[in-house]
Amino acid sequence: MSYWMDTAPAPARRPPLTEDTEADVAVVGGGIAGLVTAWELARAGRGVVVLEAGRIAAGVTGHTTAKVSALHTRIYGRLLRTRGPEGARLYARSQQDAVERVAGIAAELAVDCDLERLPAYTYVTDPAEAGALRAEAEAAREAGLPAAFTTGTGLPFPVAGAVRVEHQAQFHPRAFLLALADDLVARGGRIHEDTRITGLTEGEPCRLTAEHGPTVTARDVVVATHYPVFDRGGHFARLAVHRELVVAAPIPAEADPHGVYLTEEEGTRSVRTAPYGDGQRLLIVTGEKFTPGTGGDVPARFERLADWARSRFPGIPGGVITHRWAAQDTDPTDTVPLVGRLHPGARHVYVATGFGGWGMSGGVMAARLLAARLTGGDLPWAELYDSTRLWSAVREAPAFLGHQARTGKHWLGDRLRTPRAGSADTVAPGTGAVVRVGGRPCAVYRDEEGTVHAVSARCTHLGCLVAFNAAETTWECPCHGSRFAVDGRVLQGPATRPLPPREP
Ligand code: FES
Repeated sequence: MSYWMDTAPAPARRPPLTEDTEADVAVVGGGIAGLVTAWELARAGRGVVVLEAGRIAAGVTGHTTAKVSALHTRIYGRLLRTRGPEGARLYARSQQDAVERVAGIAAELAVDCDLERLPAYTYVTDPAEAGALRAEAEAAREAGLPAAFTTGTGLPFPVAGAVRVEHQAQFHPRAFLLALADDLVARGGRIHEDTRITGLTEGEPCRLTAEHGPTVTARDVVVATHYPVFDRGGHFARLAVHRELVVAAPIPAEADPHGVYLTEEEGTRSVRTAPYGDGQRLLIVTGEKFTPGTGGDVPARFERLADWARSRFPGIPGGVITHRWAAQDTDPTDTVPLVGRLHPGARHVYVATGFGGWGMSGGVMAARLLAARLTGGDLPWAELYDSTRLWSAVREAPAFLGHQARTGKHWLGDRLRTPRAGSADTVAPGTGAVVRVGGRPCAVYRDEEGTVHAVSARCTHLGCLVAFNAAETTWECPCHGSRFAVDGRVLQGPATRPLPPREP
């Protein structure tokens, strides 16, 4: 369980939608982007309803590392090349605006969410890469951030170089969002949990249909479901999904490096800490990035990450890891989030997605942008993030082609490939496998007690074959990252329908 889920237990369930209703704006998705959008709109006097398939602040947002930063690895050098100096400046301004907005909301609502202001770092240990980080520091500084190149980071191991940006933040995302949700309701907003939206009719007004029948009629709709559940803008071709593992363990307070850190080395490693009782901090380390469904031996990946944490931070008492979880991110092929109209012809439906690993600042940036749009204004960076922006061959071609090749390999290959014939008898307790039963691909999991759970192995989104993740006991789709429980329930979209049961 994530530390955030563990330490901000779920409040009473908010009631599912049980009858047809109306609102000025309907927000689909109760993560940080959806909740803050709804809150900003309610604060501006709009009637809003939030529709969440599960529990609010419990999906991707409940499993983030919760760094709130405008320093996004090495994006400023890239933005200078692809969007020019003005694009880089607008990106920096919009992301720093989001960092300040989080701090402002926490202060306005007097939320105790462990918000801490501190520097953010992108670092390398390979001396050959130090020059590139020196250039990135210059690009970030030109973009308007308080950035500098340094070799002193506070980390308990040497680095060859780092970009340091002051005035960034970290917080407890669920403590923040659950308080914000209470304030949203106090302002007249409505939140319905356990309400999966499966239908969207665009028009004036728009109409949303819940899986169990009731409808919501709204002038405007915001789709903030991480990966969009309604993809009418071809976003699936521009979004790659990845999963990252997280381990956490207490360290002595004096070992706190006092910053948030990221390196792309070793398959990415991210470090931050959080308050953790007397004389201690909780060290949170993230890494081992992989495409869902292709992670191979995920338990071994967890061990590799835990070993890295123990070796770099020897103060972990007994080397004991107290929390393990996984985060999921969507990466746009040109690295800039997609925020705006759902598709070029959309007049009242909006989308917010593609925050990469930076969903806290990105989600709040999107909320600010969409709330401004829906209340008659526009922010200076609306065009930068325009979700219907024309593709640029220069800035997107390599990532786009790579993503299409990987997805196409699964989408087409999974239709041609026949899983090995087999039966549940071949699946050992505690493991899962895709086998062909009666000519059809079947996802078979045998629990530790020996009970077999069998469902279709065809993802209900676009039909790729799912694969088993032994560390999380889930089925994952490599094409767009949908995740399913072993009984077929949807844990994460874009799929909205469960994997149907099969006779093993
Ligand atoms: Fe798209 Fe599975 S998530 S096919």
